[in-house]
Amino acid sequence: MKTIAKFTVFVVVGVLLAGAATAQFAKPEDAIKYRKSVMSTISKHFKSMGAAVQGKAAYDQKIFAADAEVVKTQATLPWNAFLEPGTDKGDTTMSSAVFEKKDDFMKTAEAFQTNTALLASAAQGADLNGLKDPFNEVAQNCKACHSAFRK
Ligand code: HEC
Repeated sequence: MKTIAKFTVFVVVGVLLAGAATAQFAKPEDAIKYRKSVMSTISKHFKSMGAAVQGKAAYDQKIFAADAEVVKTQATLPWNAFLEPGTDKGDTTMSSAVFEKKDDFMKTAEAFQTNTALLASAAQGADLNGLKDPFNEVAQNCKACHSAFRK
């Protein structure tokens, strides 16, 4: 039994490592489509929060919190799709700086994930005034990444 359990662990770890080392998508176009659709979803829900923050729409705590949850979850998803080889060409606005400065790109992505999580937790309780700063932090992350990593 012990040997079988050990063997199973070995196989599972092997599969995970192989997955990390090779392409996650069948074709570069698939990775481009995937990350763009994640960005579009992020954008839709972020704009909905933005309208409340800017006073253009009524603030509804439940809707705001739901939008913040979507953005937080989506913010964890697309980064492998950006790092997929060959995806700085074709139907994309991603700059090849993503490959040249991969560590900077991932740091920017991590800051974004941290700040979207902070916004989602603030949205659980805060009134609108308490949400402005965490919202603006995330908006800065969008801008910083786009100016460094889009064509
Ligand atoms: C860590 C980097 C990074 C962060 C953070 C980021 N983006 Fe992006 N975003 C990109 C890159 C790179 C592209 C280009 C994708 C492509 O064309 O393949 C992109 C594309 C987009 C697009 C265009 C999608 C399409 O269909 O062409 C929108 C809209 C967008 N981002 C909105 C946002 C918003 C809103 C935020 C913040 C709430 C955000 N992004 C945060 C890197 C980022």
